[in-house]
Amino acid sequence: MSQPLETYQDEIYLNGLTWAVPPYPTDVSGLEEAARAVMTPRAFDYVAGAAGSGDTARENIEAFRRWRIVPRMLTDVSAPDYGSRVLGTELAAPFLLAPVGVLAIAHPDGEQAVARAARAAAVPMILSTAASTAIEEVAAANGDGQRWYQLYWPSDRAVAASLLGRAEAAGYSVIVVTLDTRTLAWRPRDLDNGYLPFLQGIGVQNYLSDPGFRAGLSSPADEDPGGAILRYTQIFGDLSLTWDDLPFLREHWHGPIALKGILSAADAVRAADAGVEGIIVSNHGGRQVDGAIGALDALPAVVQAVGGRLTVLFDSGIRGGADIVKALALGARAVLIGRPYVYGLALGGEAGVRHVLRALRNDFELTMRLAGAASLADLGPEFLHQRS
Ligand SMILES: Cc1cc2nc3c(=O)[nH]c(=O)nc-3n(C[C@H](O)[C@H](O)[C@H](O)COP(=O)(O)O)c2cc1C
Repeated sequence: MSQPLETYQDEIYLNGLTWAVPPYPTDVSGLEEAARAVMTPRAFDYVAGAAGSGDTARENIEAFRRWRIVPRMLTDVSAPDYGSRVLGTELAAPFLLAPVGVLAIAHPDGEQAVARAARAAAVPMILSTAASTAIEEVAAANGDGQRWYQLYWPSDRAVAASLLGRAEAAGYSVIVVTLDTRTLAWRPRDLDNGYLPFLQGIGVQNYLSDPGFRAGLSSPADEDPGGAILRYTQIFGDLSLTWDDLPFLREHWHGPIALKGILSAADAVRAADAGVEGIIVSNHGGRQVDGAIGALDALPAVVQAVGGRLTVLFDSGIRGGADIVKALALGARAVLIGRPYVYGLALGGEAGVRHVLRALRNDFELTMRLAGAASLADLGPEFLHQRS
């Protein structure tokens, strides 16, 4: 299906004829700086921060700089089509919104603003288990938009099954199971602020609203909120999980399953052997294993190992259209946008997220055309040069 291209650039220049400028910066570093100015310092640190020394967060960005696009000239890009279909979901442009928890710390409208913006921009959103808004409320805000659900697999199996059942009933079509966060990493910026929003009751809404979770409490959450949060900290992750546990997901989820946090070809092969439909090459934006490989550096070997068997998605470090082109040229079918949309949310709620999505899409489509690619299928490693 042919998708009309984004026209944000035209709109901005036309508005500029009457001296208007866009409401928010059009590049991600400008967005980050603007967001820093409007967020509380500890909320900004929570979003921008990373594990340990921040080495992997920096490496994610640097990995992109090492790959250079080699544009091709005189190819027909007069009627490009950058649409695709990924795990049964139609993508007008090859990106989705990454699962990001506790969005209420960025803006009071939190996940609901993101859900509305995602629908308006026809970009699928992936709702986090650690959301500050319940699964069903986000689904209502997303309406007939496309949505996936991200599971933090809790140690209480009744809660896991209940979360999956609720997501399925609320119209989430794909489950993303995050494997890299069975426990929280050492995060100095949050530690220095003494700040973990979950302990303040932000980001636990999917648990507090869950019948399976509530059944495990000795007294109701509204009578003993501290007890409920303590219970949440006890069941959040399961450090005993292994590949042998994956069949549990199939029993409780009937759509496609994607495993998030894969960085090695060996794990990618295990995922394919386990029969899941997709994987997401990701290091959680450098927020978990400090010193981990830059996510883009992990992508080629994973694609080589399982690209023919699994849908390979990618995140960690996407900051502009060129980054999307590079990840796709290295074999990702689509990418997830993380921090950039959170900065948009902080700046302008729904309108801020919408701005970021339109800007990214326009930047991506222009870069594709200028590089000489008329479709996603045109892209391949021959569009890239790896600098030494
Ligand atoms: C503030 C914040 C919260 C996040 N929360 C989650 C989450 O709840 N579940 C999850 O799977 N990933 C979570 N992530 C990771 C993102 O899904 C994604 O992997 C990461 O943001 C990609 O890195 P980038 O933002 O630097 O591009 C979070 C990331 C950030 C920045």
